[in-house]
This record gives sequence, structure tokens and C-alpha cells, in this order.
Amino acid sequence: MTMSRTAPQASLEIASGARIPMIGLGTWPLVGEDAADAVARGIANGYRHLDTAEKYGNEDAVGAGIRRSGVDRGALWVTSKLSVSGHSRTAARDAYGQALERLGLEYLDLFLVHWPNPQVDRYVETCAGLQDLVDEGLLRSWGVSNFKAAHLDAVTNAGLKPAVNQVQVDPHHLQRSQLVHNASLGIATAAYSPLGRGGDFLSHPAIVEPAAAYGKTPAQVVLRWHLDSGRIAVPKSASDARQLENLDVFGFSLTAGERAAIDTLDTGAGPRLDADTYGH
Ligand SMILES: NC(=O)c1ccc[n+]([C@@H]2O[C@H](COP(=O)([O-])OP(=O)(O)OC[C@H]3O[C@@H](n4cnc5c(N)ncnc54)[C@H](OP(=O)(O)O)[C@@H]3O)[C@@H](O)[C@H]2O)c1
Repeated sequence: MTMSRTAPQASLEIASGARIPMIGLGTWPLVGEDAADAVARGIANGYRHLDTAEKYGNEDAVGAGIRRSGVDRGALWVTSKLSVSGHSRTAARDAYGQALERLGLEYLDLFLVHWPNPQVDRYVETCAGLQDLVDEGLLRSWGVSNFKAAHLDAVTNAGLKPAVNQVQVDPHHLQRSQLVHNASLGIATAAYSPLGRGGDFLSHPAIVEPAAAYGKTPAQVVLRWHLDSGRIAVPKSASDARQLENLDVFGFSLTAGERAAIDTLDTGAGPRLDADTYGH
């Protein structure tokens, strides 16, 4: 994986060979007109990567927002995710077709298995179904979300390579061993809830001090920490001001020492939800 920092955005080459814009616009929990409006404004504000899911119930609105923006489909990166009803090789194909229909798009740039649902135990064949779609030229890249090391190992031992694992990462939830495992398999990490939903770490000196030094906000320092650590991040904001703020993170970078200081805020806590017991 190689990272380029061409202004005004950075992109990361992932295992599929595609380049993903490293900052995407999260869309949960927006639905309906709120979601369509936030997506259209987000694209106008410069976002070129949108993150949705079947579970969010907003794929139709995200598609409407994309069309309303007037920006060419080819200039955008669209990620969605399938739920447990899409877990099997054929169900994954059906889930993809249904997602495209809801979004009103011809293809996705990235389609993720949202949760491994190990009780159902069909996530490996679901991944095979997504690889089929890529092999047939119908889908650009596939990946997973909330997959723990054992789930990734089961997938990679079957000869399948997800391009991305989207997991919860913020300064209090670093998930070090998960990040190391993703990297060891050549799987890019995308951070969801990258700002910890406005976590109280935003007032910690390890974040506030570099923010003051660079003339940035604490949230911008956290997003830059993700980028400088090689992670994609999908912050959600419906506000124009915060959408712009979260995208204005490409004109500076943190030193290794500043990054390491933020790493020390890790509490060691796992994600909010445990993928061995939770899923949908
Ligand atoms: N794969 C998964 O299982 C999974 C799970 C959860 C989320 N996700 C994805 O990740 C996206 C982001 O995660 P998230 O929404 O949980 O958390 P987040 O992006 O860390 O935080 C969003 C919250 O922070 C506020 N905010 C945004 N920018 C801010 C800033 N610069 N300063 C202060 N507050 C700011 C937003 O409010 P305003 O809107 O008012 O700005 C919103 O309340 C979701 O939208 C979804 O696309 C994926």
C-alpha cells in the first residue's frame, strides 16, 4: 500500500489496486432528506468518498444526494455494506444488486461484509461471493467490517483477501493488536467513529497542544493522527462547518512524537460492540 498526499486530499492504494480517498463522509444515522442534503452538501464541500450501509436505511437518500450534487459518478468513491441476509455466496450477489438498486448506481467502489456474524458461520463464502463480483468486473473492491483476527484468518486461509477492514478506532480505542493484524495481512484499516462521536479526549493536552501549534482544531488533529498512521477515516457531520473542518486536514502533519503521544491515550478498551456476539 502506498499513500500519496496530493492536495487537496490524500488517497491510499488498497489491495484491489484502487485508490481510496482517505477521508470519507460517514452517513449514519442520517436518513431521508437529511441524508440526501448532507451528502449533496458534503460533495459540494469537497468530499469524494461516501460511507453508507444497508443497515443505515439511507442508501436511497445517499444516491439522491449524489445525483443532486451534479458531480460525475466516476469522481466519487462509494462504499456500502451488506447485512446478514446477504450471508452466502449467492445471497451476497443478491445483496449487491439490491444495494445498487437502492442507491441508483451502476457499481460500488467498495462493498463490505458489515459484521462477521460467526453464529451464522457463512462469512467466508460471503467474501467469496464478493470476490466473484470483482472478478466479473461488477464491483471495484470488497472488504469487511468489524472482523476480528480469527475472522480475518478464516477468510485469508480460504485464499481470499479483503482490501479493507472498517473497525472502530479513536484515541481511546486504538485496537493495537487488530491494527497490527490488519497490516500483517496487507488489509487497509478504515476507522469508523474516528472522532469517538465527540469523545472527551478532544480536550486532552496530547491533542490540544498540537492543535494550538498548527492552528487546527482538536478534531482535525485526531483526523490527521489517523491519516499519519496510515488509516482511512469516515467522520460523520451534517454541519457544513464541521464537514469542511474535517476535510481540511491535508496541509499539515504530526511528528512521530506527537502521534505517539496520542497513541498513549489508548485505554485498551475494545470496540463498543463485540463481533463475536453482536451482528446484523
Ligand atoms: N462499520 C460499522 O459497523 C460502523 C459503525 C458505526 C459507524 N460507522 C460509520 O462511521 C461513520 C462515523 O462514525 P460515527 O458517526 O459513529 O462517529 P464520529 O464520526 O466519530 O462522530 C460523529 C459525531 O461527531 C460530531 N462531529 C463531527 N465532526 C466534528 C468536529 N469536527 N468536531 C466536533 N464534533 C464533530 C457529529 O455531529 P454533527 O453531525 O452535528 O457535526 C456527530 O455527532 C458513521 O456515520 C458510519 O458511516 C460504521
